[in-house]
Amino acid sequence: MDKWICVICGYIYDEALGMPDHGIAPGTKFTELPDDWVCPECGSPKDSFEIYTG
Ligand SMILES: [Fe+2]
Repeated sequence: MDKWICVICGYIYDEALGMPDHGIAPGTKFTELPDDWVCPECGSPKDSFEIYTG
């Protein structure tokens, strides 16, 4: 499981947690999110995210 960070606003998507409030189950890989998924904080597209290693 990885974490991905939005380089625009700093929002972190944690694959282990998913986004249950948005219908995304825990354990959902970032790459499995729909292509039209956007950052829930700032609305940036998936390509604005990178792997978070911090
Ligand atoms: Fe964002």
